[in-house]
Amino acid sequence: MPSTQQPPSPWQDILSLGRSIRLALSPPEVRAKRAYEIFPPSTWTALNEHSTYLNFGYWRSESDTIDDACQALAEKLADAAGFQEGDRILDAGFGYGDQDFMWLERHNPEMIVGLNVTPTHVKIAQTKAREHGLEDRLIFKEGSATAMSFESGSFDRVVALESALHFLPRDEFFRQAHHILRPGGVIATADIVPLTDYARKDLFSTTIPPGNWYDGDEYLTRLRAAGFINTQLTSIRTHVYEPWCRWAEQKLDSPDFQQRATWGYRRWLRRELADDDLMRKRYANMDYVIVTAEKPT
Ligand SMILES: C[S@@+](CC[C@H](N)C(=O)[O-])C[C@H]1O[C@@H](n2cnc3c(N)ncnc32)[C@H](O)[C@@H]1O
Repeated sequence: MPSTQQPPSPWQDILSLGRSIRLALSPPEVRAKRAYEIFPPSTWTALNEHSTYLNFGYWRSESDTIDDACQALAEKLADAAGFQEGDRILDAGFGYGDQDFMWLERHNPEMIVGLNVTPTHVKIAQTKAREHGLEDRLIFKEGSATAMSFESGSFDRVVALESALHFLPRDEFFRQAHHILRPGGVIATADIVPLTDYARKDLFSTTIPPGNWYDGDEYLTRLRAAGFINTQLTSIRTHVYEPWCRWAEQKLDSPDFQQRATWGYRRWLRRELADDDLMRKRYANMDYVIVTAEKPT
């Protein structure tokens, strides 16, 4: 059974190096998937204490852990989307699916269908759903948010929690989401957009297609072009990047992080955060937004 907790073996570093080279040489359509397969799950989730979320989180207080923050971000998205009992929800880019288990318990939708391009993510989420006897209501599928084959009107809400930045291109997702939503249905995303042109050539350019690199105003314009109305965008960046950086910095030397993250990842994160402070410089140029829009009735 795949696990997110098994510590990585030293061979993982060699594998990760090979996978990074392969990623750099990959065509754009497989980059997001390959990026998430570079490191083993234990490394991707090494900053977390209990959960397996893969997002920056929404930090409300100094005492929040990353698990609290990730959960709060997922709830913020659910509130923005207006989840209601009995909803049919599509979650595009579900990671390991933590938010879907929480949403099912807290909001009691009829079902949540998850779509994800990364096979490891799909396997882990499917296994968890089976173990909890929830596979009829949490349906995790391998597939892309830009190649969806659901019938028109199949869903009440379509959400993407820190994943739409990867979709190639994001506005194709907007068009398909519009098709599969019922009239009056809502699309909601928690997403990363630039404040300036700055970040295009760094780390993010590998997994964020250049065509997705536009600001919040353009984001709303593209949603309207896909047929949505009542478009709204709220910046939450002050609750996201800086507290995440502080959390990660104080985790760098913890025994738990040392044990779960590969050597290469630890080295990369230390340089990004502690040595050169590259991440803060980068995030100074980025917004973090919650966006909602409705399909007209
Ligand atoms: C930053 S992670 C967020 C995961 C999860 N929503 C969370 O918050 O923990 C981005 C996710 O998007 C998925 N993804 C990337 N491109 C995708 C695509 N075209 N269609 C569906 N999922 C995609 C990745 O595999 C990954 O699981």
